[in-house]
Amino acid sequence: MKQLSLFPEWEEKSSEKSTNSCDERQRVEAKFSNLMQEELRLGKLVSYVGNKSLPILGLYRYKEAFAFSFVEEFIKRFRLTDQDLIFEPFCGMGTTAFTAMQANIQAVAIDQLPVAAFVAKTIPLFWRVEPSELFHSFEVLKGQLHKFEPAEVALDVAIMKKAFSSEILTELRQWKSAIETLSNPLKDIFLMLFLSILEPCSYTAKDGQFLRIKRDKKIYSPTEMLQQKIYQARQDILHIRSLWGNKKRKLPDIQLVDARDLKNIKFPRKPTAIITSPPYPNRYDYTRIYSLELCFNFVKNFEELKALRFSVLRSHIESKIQDNDAPNHPVIAEVVDILKQQSKTLNNPRIPNMLVGYFVDMSLVIQEWYRVLASGAKIAMVVDNVRFAGELVPVDLVLSEMAEKVGFKVKEIIIARYKGNSSQQMGKYGRIPMRESIVVWQKI
Ligand SMILES: C[S@@+](CC[C@H](N)C(=O)[O-])C[C@H]1O[C@@H](n2cnc3c(N)ncnc32)[C@H](O)[C@@H]1O
Repeated sequence: MKQLSLFPEWEEKSSEKSTNSCDERQRVEAKFSNLMQEELRLGKLVSYVGNKSLPILGLYRYKEAFAFSFVEEFIKRFRLTDQDLIFEPFCGMGTTAFTAMQANIQAVAIDQLPVAAFVAKTIPLFWRVEPSELFHSFEVLKGQLHKFEPAEVALDVAIMKKAFSSEILTELRQWKSAIETLSNPLKDIFLMLFLSILEPCSYTAKDGQFLRIKRDKKIYSPTEMLQQKIYQARQDILHIRSLWGNKKRKLPDIQLVDARDLKNIKFPRKPTAIITSPPYPNRYDYTRIYSLELCFNFVKNFEELKALRFSVLRSHIESKIQDNDAPNHPVIAEVVDILKQQSKTLNNPRIPNMLVGYFVDMSLVIQEWYRVLASGAKIAMVVDNVRFAGELVPVDLVLSEMAEKVGFKVKEIIIARYKGNSSQQMGKYGRIPMRESIVVWQKI
């Protein structure tokens, strides 16, 4: 992918620049200080917790999601109507797309993680399904379960061997085969519910940045869990019908696409808004957190899982950098220099490369947004700042300055909440909270 320089004058001078200071970080803080304001009320909306009790969205635990009400809030603030087109470049479970559908606004949404794109595509289908069909199919499949051969899944991936007891693994694989006999949309709906029970039926727990093995946790029976999910789905379908009525809704267009390259997306017209949240440069690896789901349906073996790991945005520690990748913003150069000098105190020596790769990727993403959006289009993007070995990275401000260079106007940087750090880091570096911000930009 081509890498355009957004800061050519700085890059020419950068070899002479002094390091080991916070000059650049102080500069960007001062530059954007008049656009920054706290709206801590929004803090609870930038987490998925608000979705847990909502019909349909609560059926899948995508813990990196933001809340339905966050999207509603920005649909209102941006005064979006059914004449608008919302683009969601990092759709995750599809919160933005589903909320747009509720507001009768057309949406195009993409994600590079197949399980995310699948869930985002399936969630809007629930509304169209008869609950009685769900029950009937479940009972039929349950009655024949013992006859199904266990489905092929990616058993060569190490976590698959540790995650399940052998009986549960066989039962899950039989359910997978049984579901494959259905036709759509029921098949996808069952598959989504099936993927949602893998964690409760396993010894794994999605815990912060890790998928941990917890031998002492309670394990649920796949058939019972699936039955519970079917009950919940039934309630949710009835609930959403009572809220939405029979009015025809615009199904969102969900695609498995890399946000760094949008040339193959055919937008019905130019998008007028983006409401999104990208991965953060915090070492988080979606292909590990969702490895069970991926191994059951989206990758055939470890090789494919690894290939996927290297194809997502470089927010995690195994990200590779290319020979021509270099810090593409003065703040990143400053932080990377300092971290390289302190490599002994860094808990992972690959952190500087991850930061370089992440900001190169995000500059491509932002340039693509500028290219595809309509003039006047508005963007609301949730981002977390990060800190490594005590060095703060103001992700919100670096991305905002990149956006400005591309041609966006930075309208606001809303501080939604402050996050602490690990207690270990707190002890070492003091209690400096980090911003979780909503950056608001406009294409002018
Ligand atoms: C913070 S999550 C977004 C959650 C979403 N707002 C929701 O409510 O579910 C970031 C998403 O970016 C996706 N992602 C990672 N690399 C990507 C890429 N290169 N292109 C598109 N999406 C990518 C991840 O799979 C993840 O679903």
